[in-house]
Amino acid sequence: MPYVYMVRCENGALYTGWTTDLAHRLAAHQSGAGAKYTKGFGAAALAWAEPQADKAAALRREAAVKKLPKEQKEALAAGFDPARFAVLRPARPADAAEVLGVFGPYVTGSTASFLYQVPPVEEYQRQIRRLSRSLPYLTARDAAGRMLGYACAHPWRYGRDAYAWDAETTIYLAPDARRMGVGSMLYHALLAALARQGYWNAYGVLADPNPESEAFHTAFGFVCEGRQKRSGYKSGWQGVSYWLLALREGQEEPQALPAPLAKGQMEEILAAARLGKGWKEMAEGSLRAAARAKTE
Ligand SMILES: CC(C)(COP(=O)(O)OP(=O)(O)OC[C@H]1O[C@@H](n2cnc3c(N)ncnc32)[C@H](O)[C@@H]1OP(=O)(O)O)[C@@H](O)C(=O)NCCC(=O)NCCS
Repeated sequence: MPYVYMVRCENGALYTGWTTDLAHRLAAHQSGAGAKYTKGFGAAALAWAEPQADKAAALRREAAVKKLPKEQKEALAAGFDPARFAVLRPARPADAAEVLGVFGPYVTGSTASFLYQVPPVEEYQRQIRRLSRSLPYLTARDAAGRMLGYACAHPWRYGRDAYAWDAETTIYLAPDARRMGVGSMLYHALLAALARQGYWNAYGVLADPNPESEAFHTAFGFVCEGRQKRSGYKSGWQGVSYWLLALREGQEEPQALPAPLAKGQMEEILAAARLGKGWKEMAEGSLRAAARAKTE
């Protein structure tokens, strides 16, 4: 996933480069291992970054930014908010503590989650390992590597054959990472991955009331299919609402069970989501390609 970026050096200068791993590259600059220039002047912080479609685009953009006069580089830096700059990646078991760092406060301080206690890190390591074998589990970090949030999917009514094409989706963001579009990037990527895997329905089960999550799910086209007033007991009886999004239309017989994505497909989706593509566009591209391959 290529980016062109600028780091601010301790003497105020801006160093321009490109990379496929922003957090790693920033850390290298800060430790003096990034480039001769930043080693000499000390790299303080990421000043600007922009995602690119591929390496060739990154090289072109890097050359163009390097040629910009100082005031234009400063204008790019002035318009950059690192908190808004999310890097999406598939979750790894090693992310469990940070995932719980985001999720935990919703367990202890709200009814958004119906858990009473924050699960141990080891349990989440196992959960990430188990779920991500067959379903998308995605994290978003800011440019400095801080976990902003995650989105994942669970089988819906696991073990009952006829539900095999349905998945339940979940998303949690750190409170200060909300309303910046990070949730949308994560959900577009998650839904595109589910659609590409061959899922037909995505369900959201929301604690009632949760107006921001309802607005969020509505913005994605989820429709509320029902409300249950007394579903779980946590600080009093709590209700839930059930939200459904059809990932594909039609009544035909499914041709195959959902299958994990082939190598490289998730990276393709994450790169497209980072460029602001919607889940339908990302999913339809692959459905068209699959249909073409079938007729060839
Ligand atoms: C729900 C949640 C994931 C939304 O993520 P987000 O990054 O804040 O959402 P986005 O900035 O991508 O917003 C996308 C759209 O959702 C809607 N939306 C999101 N938050 C909203 C809010 N607080 N009020 C009104 N609309 C909202 C808007 O339509 C928004 O589009 P807009 O910015 O063009 O108006 C986030 O608020 C969150 O983590 N909440 C707490 C945890 C939770 O309840 N998770 C859901 C459990 S099922």
